Amino acid sequence: DMDEIEVPSCWQNAGYDRHMYTNVRYPIPFDPPYVPDENPCGLYLRRFYMNEDDLKFKTYLNFEGVDSCFYLWINEQFAGYSQVSHSTSEFDISDLLVEGENSVAVLVLKWCDGTYLEDQDKLRMSGIFRDVYLISRPENHIRDYFVKTALNADFTKATVTVETELCGAPEITAELYAPHGELVGSASGAKPVFEIENPLLWNAEDPYQYKLVLRTPEETIEQMVGVSKIEIREGVLYFNGVKIKLRGVNRHDSDPVTGYTISREQAKRDLFLMKQHNVNAIRTSHYPNAPWFLQLCSEYGFYVIAEADMESHGAATQTGGYGMDEYADVALNPIFDKAILDRIQRSVIRDKNNACVLMWSYGNESGWGPSLEKAGAWVRAYDPSRLTHYENSYYNARGHQNDISSLSVCSRMYAAPEWIDEYFADPKNTLPFVQCEYIHAMGNGPGDAEQYQQQIMKYDGFMGGFVWEWCDHAVYGGTTPDNRDIFRYGGDFGEFPNDGNFCMDGLVYPDRTPHTGLLEYKKAIQPMRVTAVDLEKGVFDVTNLYAFRGFEGMAATWTIEVDGHAVQHGDIALDVAPYATQRVTLDYKLPCCGNAYLTISLREKYDTRWCAAGHEVAVEQFKLPVEARRFVCPADEMSEIMMIDDDGVLLMGEDFSVVFDRRGNLVEWLQDGRDVLLSGPRVNLWRAPTDNDVRIKEAWQRFGFDKLQARTVEMTAERITKSAVRVSVTQVLAPYTTVPVVRAELTYTVFGNGAIRVNARYTPLTKFEIQVPGSHWAPEGSIESRPHMKEVYLPRLGLKMDVPMDYDRVIWLGRGPQENYQDMWEAALTGMYEGDMDDLHEPYVRPQENGARGETKYLAMVDKSGEGLMVINEKARYDGFSFNAHPYTDEELDAATHTCELKAGDYITLSVDYSQGALGSNICGPEPMEHYRLYMRDTLEQQFVIKPYTRQTLTPASAAAIVPEEI
Ligand code: GAL
Ligand code: MG
Repeated sequence: DMDEIEVPSCWQNAGYDRHMYTNVRYPIPFDPPYVPDENPCGLYLRRFYMNEDDLKFKTYLNFEGVDSCFYLWINEQFAGYSQVSHSTSEFDISDLLVEGENSVAVLVLKWCDGTYLEDQDKLRMSGIFRDVYLISRPENHIRDYFVKTALNADFTKATVTVETELCGAPEITAELYAPHGELVGSASGAKPVFEIENPLLWNAEDPYQYKLVLRTPEETIEQMVGVSKIEIREGVLYFNGVKIKLRGVNRHDSDPVTGYTISREQAKRDLFLMKQHNVNAIRTSHYPNAPWFLQLCSEYGFYVIAEADMESHGAATQTGGYGMDEYADVALNPIFDKAILDRIQRSVIRDKNNACVLMWSYGNESGWGPSLEKAGAWVRAYDPSRLTHYENSYYNARGHQNDISSLSVCSRMYAAPEWIDEYFADPKNTLPFVQCEYIHAMGNGPGDAEQYQQQIMKYDGFMGGFVWEWCDHAVYGGTTPDNRDIFRYGGDFGEFPNDGNFCMDGLVYPDRTPHTGLLEYKKAIQPMRVTAVDLEKGVFDVTNLYAFRGFEGMAATWTIEVDGHAVQHGDIALDVAPYATQRVTLDYKLPCCGNAYLTISLREKYDTRWCAAGHEVAVEQFKLPVEARRFVCPADEMSEIMMIDDDGVLLMGEDFSVVFDRRGNLVEWLQDGRDVLLSGPRVNLWRAPTDNDVRIKEAWQRFGFDKLQARTVEMTAERITKSAVRVSVTQVLAPYTTVPVVRAELTYTVFGNGAIRVNARYTPLTKFEIQVPGSHWAPEGSIESRPHMKEVYLPRLGLKMDVPMDYDRVIWLGRGPQENYQDMWEAALTGMYEGDMDDLHEPYVRPQENGARGETKYLAMVDKSGEGLMVINEKARYDGFSFNAHPYTDEELDAATHTCELKAGDYITLSVDYSQGALGSNICGPEPMEHYRLYMRDTLEQQFVIKPYTRQTLTPASAAAIVPEEI
């Protein structure tokens, strides 16, 4: 009566048990080493056949990954037990086999004592989730081998030594082939040695690999070999004698349909996407991947922090709080010593022959104790050619003095830039520094990728960083009736405990569509930087930031666009050696006027294994020093406006009318009988909090930004000329219960040609300060880690208005095409873009503020026939306003928990902001960097012109150039 299940798979994905997502907290009682009596299990049975010839060989049964532990029977005889979910378990079952039909039975338990060491932040799945197979080996065989490479001082000679571990006494011959196929040499015996003259070295940019062939009379084993040298000299990392930087991501095995079960195709898809986005390093957070994963990393070129399957983070929450002493209770408990050593050994021993391994990581977030000291000493002795890494070693828990002498680097997560500056200022810090996790990519964000990259480039000893994390973890739940994907996260399965959407924190959506954050990261870590020497004469310095690769295989071009139109372009002859800078002069003439931008683009000339020829690797943009076109329309040349000032103000021009009510709200605006706006600009200081806003959000609510009511103090309408009327409104904005926060002085100058100039001055009425508790996420000793007074920065500041649903096509000149905010807009180049409501919405699985476009010079919103409205920037915090246009309100975005629940309303909310707030990555990391934050300390002012867009309008650019005079 048993069901059938596909293997490998996670049983929760096959409909058994239930999904669960928890981060730090253990899903079981903290009662080590015991686990609950209620322990879900799966019994797997299958038959297989062996013939007479098969039985002449030794037979091993291999499991590459089973969560959490299992018992094995062959032909109903007990054959063994294993655990360590992400490690290979191999059984010699030769003696239990018979000719003909055999049976294998595997009983997998969901919880075991290993669960205490596998508290990684992930969906908690179970079962035989990786490949299972039999291997037949001759009696005498090579049990294992360790390929060691050594280089002479000037890298002209390499020695490759193959240390073997044998079963019986096989006769061994060996050959080594060069990357292009020619034979380097042959050797024989139990320890073959090869010498290579002028070796082609492996690195992540040019991952040359030699092929080692080991032969015994009955077997041939092929092993790829990379020759390289890892060194730290005076606190700086050198790879093959060259300084390198790690442009990394943390990657979990995670797929919305297959869970932990990842095929080579799925893994390659990740790796190719990473390559396309300039990522050169991966931390296998927080466990070893399938054995072939590192082979792929060696083949395609990534520096890898290979992490052992260990995390006991939940020890910190054993008493319900979060204790730094408790944190280390598993690592300090001698009953776990052997298990911890075993986990670390198994990751190192299995993956040792992969060229990509730069550092061995002992695990993640387990505190520190003698167990890790012993394991670390073992790693150093076993493989001195690699570096060692572990982050959670800085706290001396329960009086234990941490001996971290086995670690080769100083690693931290989410360290603030100030902390890093201090690290490098202190001469006692001799180890190179790496951020094994930084810029937390949850939801909309992360901000500050570029700022951190500046810091990484500034310090030689700063090895680089690894974004947390590569992908959103979710469970696919089919589609909604209107065909939108349903992705589920923590809490959606009715499970306790759960950590909600904390698993949705990747640079790509569950289906691998890139988030905006990935585009930004690609730009920050791109291998080319260009600085302008003389913009008028076209002189630039182009720097190659590859460590090994020149630009000769790439094509560089430049283009000048004026208001979105390419007007001049050319090629750039680049021949820049690694880390070199070349001065180039571009043969252009400055355009006379307009919004003029120069874009320099670097592309692959030829197909590579992960991208097609023409793929853009790097891009830089410069604003050219020319004036935007502007034709000021004198008011007295416009037609007259009639004003009726009664219970409100009615203004009528030749073909339009505008109505303000007594409180100063624009309640109607008709042009040729159609609505321009449905209702007028309203002051707005709120946004649907992003995931990274969660810490500051309470302060925002304390000031009531989410519930401001406007009280009109004064409203006047005055005629300025026969064809211009000014409506001035003063409002005080306050939430219920607490004090007013802002005074807004809004003036609307309505002109006879149908344009309205909107000026808004915002003055704070209170001090935006608040007392905050310390955060245990903040680096030890930092201000954020203690209670303190803090000045509150704003979510946003601007005006929002309701626009007819028909105007759902937006054309704008500004940053784009993707959403962008001041600390995440380096990759969003200025140009002329066009999109509809879907294009302007980023469907983060948990809805939140999204889709802003900053530094907008002007925008048009039009219907199918080309009619609508236009907004032209005049004053904003940056070089243009920020706008969002959504068929949802901020309140709807905030209330929905899944993007597939959002239903478009019957009007568009258009926000035109003085500025958006920054994004940062504060949910785990520091707050947004100071200079990006939006503070209100004094009066802030914004101004724009808004006017109807008609069919007679030639182009948005021509219409935007015509503005009424300022009176
Ligand atoms: C880190 C941890 C990661 C993840 C992240 C939050 O502390 O190492 O595994 O939990 O925080 O998303
Ligand atoms: Mg953790």
